[in-house]
Amino acid sequence: MGGSTYHSFLELAEACDIPTRCSCRTGVWSACETGIVAGTVAYRPDPIEPPPVGNVLVCCSHPQADLVLDL
Ligand code: FES
Repeated sequence: MGGSTYHSFLELAEACDIPTRCSCRTGVWSACETGIVAGTVAYRPDPIEPPPVGNVLVCCSHPQADLVLDL
């Protein structure tokens, strides 16, 4: 995902036909909250309320290194 093709995990998952939960797509309602198995993420834009440690909002995040999600 490191290139500029996808702006978030959500866009990548949709392009790969991986089912995800989403609604606002902007980090507002936390509908896309997903577990992180390994790795860390950064947000752009920052969500209104960050998810608990160990979870990620896939609509507005991108990996900082290798990442495994519990989709
Ligand atoms: S889809 Fe709403 S917070 Fe991600």
